[in-house]
Amino acid sequence: DDDFIVLGIETSCDDTAAAVVRSSGEILSQVVSSQADLLARYGGVAPKMAEEAHSQVIDQVVQEAIDKANVRETDLSAVAVTIGPGLSLCLRVGVRKARKTAGRFNLPIIGVHHMEAHALVARLMEKKLQFPFMALLISGGHNLLILAQDLGQYIQLGTTIDDAVGEAYDKTAKWLGLDLRRSGGPAIEELAREGDAKSIKFSIPMKQHKDCNFSYAGLKTQVRLAIKSRNIDAEIPISCANHQDRSSRADIAASFQRVAVLHLEERCERAIEWALNIEPSIKHLVVSGGVASNQYVRAQLDQVVKKNSLQLVCPPPSLCTDNGVMVAWTGIEHFRVGRFDPPPPADEPEDFV
Ligand code: KG4
Ligand code: ZN
Repeated sequence: DDDFIVLGIETSCDDTAAAVVRSSGEILSQVVSSQADLLARYGGVAPKMAEEAHSQVIDQVVQEAIDKANVRETDLSAVAVTIGPGLSLCLRVGVRKARKTAGRFNLPIIGVHHMEAHALVARLMEKKLQFPFMALLISGGHNLLILAQDLGQYIQLGTTIDDAVGEAYDKTAKWLGLDLRRSGGPAIEELAREGDAKSIKFSIPMKQHKDCNFSYAGLKTQVRLAIKSRNIDAEIPISCANHQDRSSRADIAASFQRVAVLHLEERCERAIEWALNIEPSIKHLVVSGGVASNQYVRAQLDQVVKKNSLQLVCPPPSLCTDNGVMVAWTGIEHFRVGRFDPPPPADEPEDFV
């Protein structure tokens, strides 16, 4: 019987998310509670604070996902939960909740790798997406280029040697005094539309390294120096900046974004070449993770992919940023082939995890 329902739980970073998904790919519910407000107030994630924020809302988020899906726990076939990578204090909140739910209703557990989930959710969206395919995963903590040969079989073509591209977006936004009540990426994307992307000549990272790895630490430094030399004061929010100040901030945002994405383009170009040598039948490049919700990123990568006669698969923005659907879906893919753990005992102590 191939019709079943999985609950997915995600708490690896600063979003508490849950979703209920049917094995057919139908999304029955999707709930995300963001800590963006908290981040804006304190200027970053402190693990202990993030853990507390997850703990406060996890019960409610999961309950809402179940209610909105119009199912009962007894209709579920399994519970999927992100087990890494991420902040361990935060991951633990999700894992505890998953084990408690699974224990009470005698459900198997599926431990999910966060980055695998970012990649596989593309298969929920695009039913034609078969293995092998390539994936560029771009988020706040990770930058990965992979060749997905089969479920659970991934070749890493490139990774970041320091910061991820999302981190560079977030810092640039902070230094430019942008409103961080939502994350930095969308704020930069919006401001960049007003700016001249060629006004500042940032250099493309790692041009001399003919591989598929990434580096954003150097670009961050270039941006910081450009901001300093233009006397931009992050303490003055952009909403209070005068016309000239605003346009100079926009120029930095646009110039940063152009080079940040050129680096992605260059690496993808090379990775496609490598991957086609290993698996000539590849037809798709998946781009996923929070930064993949950026329209400019999508448009630029679409050109690279088309030039190489491949097709770009990009989940909708709500499935690119951290969410419970991708975890539930990855659970479904694993459950189907028998990869899951037995239900935990109903009386397992809370602090077991
Ligand atoms: O995948 P994700 O939600 O969480 C992690 O696994 O890290 O990615 C979050 C990252 C943040 O750095 C955020 O600024 C970035 O994705 N992001 C964007 C956009 N939306 C989110 N970056 C650029 N443009 C966007 N529109
Ligand atoms: Zn993520």
